[in-house]
Amino acid sequence: MIGDDPYADGVLYDLEYADVTEDVAFYVQRAGEAEGPVVELGCGTGRLTIPVARAGIRITGVEASPAMLARLRAKLEREEPAVRDRVAVHAGSWETFRPAAPADVVLWPFNALHHSRDEAALRDMLSRVRSYLRPSGRVVLDAYLPDPELYGRDPDRRYEPRTFVDPLTGDLLESWEQGWWDEDAHVHHVLYVYRSGGAERRTHLQLRMFEIDVLRSVIEDAGWRIVMEASDFGGAPVGPGALKWVGMLVPRPP
Ligand SMILES: C[S@@+](CC[C@H](N)C(=O)[O-])C[C@H]1O[C@@H](n2cnc3c(N)ncnc32)[C@H](O)[C@@H]1O
Repeated sequence: MIGDDPYADGVLYDLEYADVTEDVAFYVQRAGEAEGPVVELGCGTGRLTIPVARAGIRITGVEASPAMLARLRAKLEREEPAVRDRVAVHAGSWETFRPAAPADVVLWPFNALHHSRDEAALRDMLSRVRSYLRPSGRVVLDAYLPDPELYGRDPDRRYEPRTFVDPLTGDLLESWEQGWWDEDAHVHHVLYVYRSGGAERRTHLQLRMFEIDVLRSVIEDAGWRIVMEASDFGGAPVGPGALKWVGMLVPRPP
């Protein structure tokens, strides 16, 4: 464990994921279908929260990282007051969160479920989410599916080189990824390295991966029924070789 928290710097997070936009319209639409409160677990810097609020929808973001929350709050300051007012923030863990009123839609987006240590932890979390919802509510979430090609990468090689401009200092940041696969733990480790002058910053993402059948059975064991699943945000079917899973869950009747 390298211990470089991937969520210790919200500015770096926004730089890294600025070009991830394919899920935004999907989640805004799912939030817009809600007939009651909307909650986003792990709202981060507001990559999805702010577009939801801009679309006129009230949303409560739950977030454990003070750095991500600081960035979210700074971004909200630049929004119209009406947008800002639609966002409520709960600073703390999604495990101990208690909604003020049961939600109609809970979003658990952008591969956040890979922060679950193992199947039992994912099952516990999904069971817990039931208590955040109205009986008629639903959960919308997405995940990576295991990618053998990615896990065969040389851990010492630099992949996906990019150059960013640090928005705070104007400095050029040279960036690349390195990664390795821990077969025993079923964890994909990704190091993001950012170099500017002589200084280097690293973040270390650890993604606990789940095979599709495991994911489906954990979801069902946790008391959910899958009412929609796709391999992208446009609704493509989940076939062999799919690398992405997008799903909508409703509580399974007892
Ligand atoms: C992959 S990021 C997604 C952020 C945002 N939803 C987005 O789409 O850009 C996952 C977020 O979940 C947060 N997180 C991880 N574990 C958490 C926990 N136990 N409770 C609350 N937030 C958590 C992280 O700090 C991070 O901001």
